[in-house]
Amino acid sequence: MPHQRALPKSVATVLNAFDSLGDSFKGAITVDAQARITWIDDRYRELLGIPGDVDLIGQPVENTIPHSLLRRVVETGRPILIDIMAFDDKQFVVCRLPLRNEEGEIQGAVGFVFYEEIDYLAPILEKFETMQRQLSRAQAALNRERQTKYSLSSFVGASEAVRELKTMVRRYALRDGAALILGETGTGKELLAHAIHQQSDRADEPFVAVNVAAIPEPLLEAEFFGVAPGAFTGADRKPRKGKFELAHGGTLFLDEIGDMPAALQAKLLRALQEGEFEPLGSNTVKKVDVRIIAATSQPLEQKIEDKSFRADLYYRIAVLAIHVPPLRERLDDIGLIAEALLETIPRPRDQRGWLITPEAIDQLTRYSWPGNVRELRNVLERAAAMAPSEVIDLGLITKALPPAALERVDAPPITNNLSERLAAAERSALIDALTAEDGSRTAAAQRLGVSRSQFYEKLKRHSLD
Ligand SMILES: Nc1ncnc2c1ncn2[C@@H]1O[C@H](COP(=O)(O)OP(=O)(O)O)[C@@H](O)[C@H]1O
Ligand SMILES: [Mg+2]
Repeated sequence: MPHQRALPKSVATVLNAFDSLGDSFKGAITVDAQARITWIDDRYRELLGIPGDVDLIGQPVENTIPHSLLRRVVETGRPILIDIMAFDDKQFVVCRLPLRNEEGEIQGAVGFVFYEEIDYLAPILEKFETMQRQLSRAQAALNRERQTKYSLSSFVGASEAVRELKTMVRRYALRDGAALILGETGTGKELLAHAIHQQSDRADEPFVAVNVAAIPEPLLEAEFFGVAPGAFTGADRKPRKGKFELAHGGTLFLDEIGDMPAALQAKLLRALQEGEFEPLGSNTVKKVDVRIIAATSQPLEQKIEDKSFRADLYYRIAVLAIHVPPLRERLDDIGLIAEALLETIPRPRDQRGWLITPEAIDQLTRYSWPGNVRELRNVLERAAAMAPSEVIDLGLITKALPPAALERVDAPPITNNLSERLAAAERSALIDALTAEDGSRTAAAQRLGVSRSQFYEKLKRHSLD
């Protein structure tokens, strides 16, 4: 039997008392102020499955009990009166107390272990086990949800442009270099960033997003790099981890990176080059391993030219560049995207699902969508809110489109059929006249040289009324 240190008298007394619990008492362990084992009893050894001839004394407690909290007890000086710990598939109740000398200094800690046969603990353990099961079910559901929510398949579209984009994203996901996603607002850049992370080797690690444009400039550095404990950095800053550290092992998504102030650009560049950074008010560096995915709707090249964006940072983050085409360059996809978006728009209780008519989709393809898919979603939500039934038709879509949509209908005719082209021309003439006359129908009719009733009739035919 290896040599055990002397057990403090107080602990020995308590142990004797616990012995009367018989089989429910499963043993005890003591550590010193450095959380090294000083003593362990045979019952606990048996529970841990450690042969009697292995010397544990002087070893860090975690070598024997990986999740031990005794170190926390010696470091904080605070007891953990009741806790639950699992060995194999069994749950045990543990109690941990700090041990102090007469001067009140921490000398170490003691941990006692009990098994559930103690009647009054059984309900607690049962409840704990139930909660644990519920938690793992919820976590599994959340994971599944995440996977489907952000996988590449949730980026809807079958046009050539989207097919190429998806091929590129799949290829880039497998490489670990920094990626830069460029595209107008609402084109799905954030969706793609999630998809890249989900398809990469880092999928099980964190995905952390920072929207550079949404954070006030003076707070950005703390947000990125964190604040060291005890740092004097102003009263309003508590110590906390920065996004860089939170994303360790995973992906850091920097949205709207084009809006990053110059001072922070320099710090970010250094962090990316060295793979390390200093939290605010700290003079030690932290190492991190993160993959950067940045996105912006700003013309970065132009910003580089006028020196508001650093070229060296650009080359760092643009190793893999992805251009997301605006919606107006993939109008073929609008039907599919609209259907997919409608699936996510809440519908009245007794309704099975939204139905959008072909004419309504056709109308959607006649607009230039400066806000892209985000705007499309808003328009569909507006139409759905006005819909008296589950059918979303041309009239509803026309009402839901912004007035600007009716001003610019110079999208190329999507047909070669003469009467359809004539109809399209007539439609834009009506809109132009209305726009020119500030919406006055009488003046617009005069302008076009048609009677008021003819004009009204035409408006109706083109659903412009
Ligand atoms: N191709 C697409 N298919 C389905 N939904 C999309 C698509 N592109 C964008 N969205 C949706 O449009 C909204 C805006 O997308 P987001 O990724 O935030 O755009 P960005 O970051 O480029 O401004 C989100 O609700 C997103 O889920
Ligand atoms: Mg965005």
